Amino acid sequence: MLQFDSSRYCVRTMEVDGQAVTFRAFENIVTVEHPVDPRYQAVSIYVPEAFYHGETVCGYDLHTAPILFENNIGGFFPSEPRNPEHEMFGHTSTFFYALLHGYVIATPGARGRTNQAADGRFYGKAPAALIDLKAALRYLWANEDAIPGDMHHMFSIGTSAGGCFAALTGTYDNQADCEPFLAELGTASGKEELFAVCCYCPVTDLEHADAAYEWQFQGIPDYHRMHMEMDEGGRPQFSAEDGVMTQRQIQLSDELAAAFPTYLNSLGLNAPDGSPLALDSDGSGSFRDFLSRKIADAAQQALDAGRTVDCPAFTVRDGRVTAVDFSAFMRFITRMKEAPPFDDVTMHSFENNLFGEPNEEYAHFTAFSYQRSTCPQPTMASSAVLKLMNPLSYIREGSNLVPHWRFRQGTNDRDVGFATVAIIALALQNQGVDVDYALIWHENHGGDFDLPELFQWIDGLCSAESRGQ
Ligand code: DHB
Repeated sequence: MLQFDSSRYCVRTMEVDGQAVTFRAFENIVTVEHPVDPRYQAVSIYVPEAFYHGETVCGYDLHTAPILFENNIGGFFPSEPRNPEHEMFGHTSTFFYALLHGYVIATPGARGRTNQAADGRFYGKAPAALIDLKAALRYLWANEDAIPGDMHHMFSIGTSAGGCFAALTGTYDNQADCEPFLAELGTASGKEELFAVCCYCPVTDLEHADAAYEWQFQGIPDYHRMHMEMDEGGRPQFSAEDGVMTQRQIQLSDELAAAFPTYLNSLGLNAPDGSPLALDSDGSGSFRDFLSRKIADAAQQALDAGRTVDCPAFTVRDGRVTAVDFSAFMRFITRMKEAPPFDDVTMHSFENNLFGEPNEEYAHFTAFSYQRSTCPQPTMASSAVLKLMNPLSYIREGSNLVPHWRFRQGTNDRDVGFATVAIIALALQNQGVDVDYALIWHENHGGDFDLPELFQWIDGLCSAESRGQ
């Protein structure tokens, strides 16, 4: 068995804005017996050093601190475990503030879509990252007594592609389908339990993400995005990329948008108050009204906090957002991607790259784009892999789910449709688990933009649990 060695660590201090935290770092611990790539099949654990001197931090100690199982996956790329000192685009990492707040961090690495062996074979295609996260969870549970923090209060957190994988760690019924992959790596015991999951802007339900996006941006042909390139010093440089979709893309957009109501209605979702959510064939209906209300709630919260909300899609009376014009709001935030945004007919999107086979760099994952592919030799992902990569495959009556969930998406997120995130949040809520889902005014596609609220949610759940609620 892979044993956690509590004597292998270093102690570091980190200081930001006059605040300092000293922590114990157990880094890059390989989590499987037979790693394909030990750089990624690893976990790093960070613990407030004060815990080892009998002190508490924000009421937590070495045995009661929640564990943040936050992944670092972005763009479905490979990701090594990240350290607290790591700055992303100049922002102090969440891990610094989490340590300052008395949390333990157990951050997993994961293989990703671009991993390629010397013989040319790709070894990080779907579902590799999910398997690596599950392997890390099994490693932690197998060492339950030695791992710092409270294993019964473990929070799986991720953003965007990482949010998709965080969601996938929250449905236990996928365990049987993952078992063969896990067995091959030589993982520890079968336990993978989590207390809660927090997804920021998850890029998920990929088979239907195109239709959801096109339904949202229906009739909006122009796109606006930033193109990122690394300069010689490894710093990201951004330039504006604006354009108008071609006639063919507009036609594809219309077809996808028209298909969305049938999909949405097939889910039989209900709002938290129990009322059914549906769409008419023209794209209007109670589900769209539900999303308009979520947008209004986000704007209202900003107004109530004394912020200025300037958006032509809103009717505001006496400081209250009384109406939202859904289409006008989408014209206001603008489309970012051309149709189809995920399963690209040229078969070259991030997601096409995620779904290749070991000997294929790209694959389609919807019948829609496969049938309309402009690739000379289009390929299609297997239904078994598609099932594994979609949390909705495992969210149904009687399914075995993590009890607490939180979803956050910025109202300026144009990477993934609002419907995609709402659908998974509602599907979970309809199964009776605890779901806290909100849009956040003016935030972009990203994560950890609301650390005080995130920490409040974590602390609230942990203290409610210890009070037996
Ligand atoms: C991410 C962003 C995307 O636009 C996408 O299609 C997939 C992943 C990301 O930020 O992880």
